[in-house]
Amino acid sequence: MDGTPRIDPYLSGNFAPVRSEDDFELTIVGQVPAGLSGAYYRNGPNPQFDPIGDYHWFAGDGMIHGFFVEDGAVRYRNRYVRTPKWTQENAAGRALWATFGNPMTSDPSVAGQDSGVANTNIVWHGGRLMALEEGHRPFAIDPVSLEPQGYLDQFRGRVTAHPKIDPETGEMVWFAYASGPVPLNATVSYGVSDAQGVVTRRDDFEAPYCSMVHDFMVTRRHVLFPILPLTGSLERVMAGGAPFAWEPDKGAFVGVMARGAGVETIRWFETEACYVFHPMNAWEEGDKIFADVMEYPSAPLFPNADGGRGADVQARLVRWTFDLAAPTNQIQRQPLDDLAGEFPRFDERRAGLSYRHGWFAAGSVDPRERGFTAIAHVDLASGRRSTYSFAPGDGVGEPIFLPRAPDAPEGDGWVIATVYRGAENRSDLAIFDAQGIEAGPIAVAQLPRRVPFGFHGNWRAAG
Ligand SMILES: [Fe+2]
Repeated sequence: MDGTPRIDPYLSGNFAPVRSEDDFELTIVGQVPAGLSGAYYRNGPNPQFDPIGDYHWFAGDGMIHGFFVEDGAVRYRNRYVRTPKWTQENAAGRALWATFGNPMTSDPSVAGQDSGVANTNIVWHGGRLMALEEGHRPFAIDPVSLEPQGYLDQFRGRVTAHPKIDPETGEMVWFAYASGPVPLNATVSYGVSDAQGVVTRRDDFEAPYCSMVHDFMVTRRHVLFPILPLTGSLERVMAGGAPFAWEPDKGAFVGVMARGAGVETIRWFETEACYVFHPMNAWEEGDKIFADVMEYPSAPLFPNADGGRGADVQARLVRWTFDLAAPTNQIQRQPLDDLAGEFPRFDERRAGLSYRHGWFAAGSVDPRERGFTAIAHVDLASGRRSTYSFAPGDGVGEPIFLPRAPDAPEGDGWVIATVYRGAENRSDLAIFDAQGIEAGPIAVAQLPRRVPFGFHGNWRAAG
């Protein structure tokens, strides 16, 4: 130890927060497609104040970056998600909650109070724009002003940051983990909201153990719950350890349930230990269910259960097959691509259905290498993969697909993503032709400052 303060990589470079809320008219280079009209919202962690103790990238206050596209122009507006935590800390002028609301290290004045940061995703459904984080209720915000509307109590508890919207029924299908009354429990909740946003179902079941279940899979007829061994343990916390850690001996399970069935019918499939933050898509054919997932050999960004540092690992696209007619519960796993990546997306008009096209951020997830350096497009029918690499020092976020028109063929449209320009220390919104990624952006909307690396975003079409 030389006395030098440790610099958290997730509080430096383009992971560092921006502490201003701005409205900018962006400079356009190239031509924004005339048919592109709507709003792109992106969420991500942006701690309002320097954290108490150790920081974790997943724990910063949510900030929404809104890009409003109309008539070839792009306006930008960013606002913090004004959660109760944000509001109380803003009044105090300092952080009051420690990372993940840890009661051992938070300010005693906020003991037992809501620590939600609403920082992970932002979804438009049922006439509401909802900032989502997996440990708390959805937090509604105004889609134009980005002002707070507050927590949505109708969900009756915590909700995942990764709900799925059924393109055929308009339903939003969702889940929650560790949703029981005590911290870090093995209860999982399954829920459905109808097309108008009314919650029609919320049922609880017990998973094999408490796992961080970041995302799940939904097909036309089934729902799949991955319980992978990034375990949660209150016992470990009380012994001074991490709330979540890699513990491969617990095994890897995926619960499969028909969407209309009761939670007591869940069938547990098994495989070797691995970890997935994000599936791309899932669908069924006859008795088989297929899921394309970004699979890691172990959980990145978290310690091992013995307190040791977790391995630096990358995710790759893998196809999981579940055979409902088979006498065994083994999951078959087949690699689809050898390119390291994350943030897989696709044409969500094919959500839960067979599909052909996917896009993801490619390159290293190591922050010392400034995150993802390329966008990849995979054509799962032809096996062709095309990529576009950004300049050295640049970093790209999650690429999302926007259809050219509501009835355009699958994959016909645009892909948009925020790009950090390392040489200029600011960001762009880049717009690609979805079928011509390798040609580079067809238009770029330039910001005068950075948009920090963050998590997920979604598009709300105008009209
Ligand atoms: Fe996520």
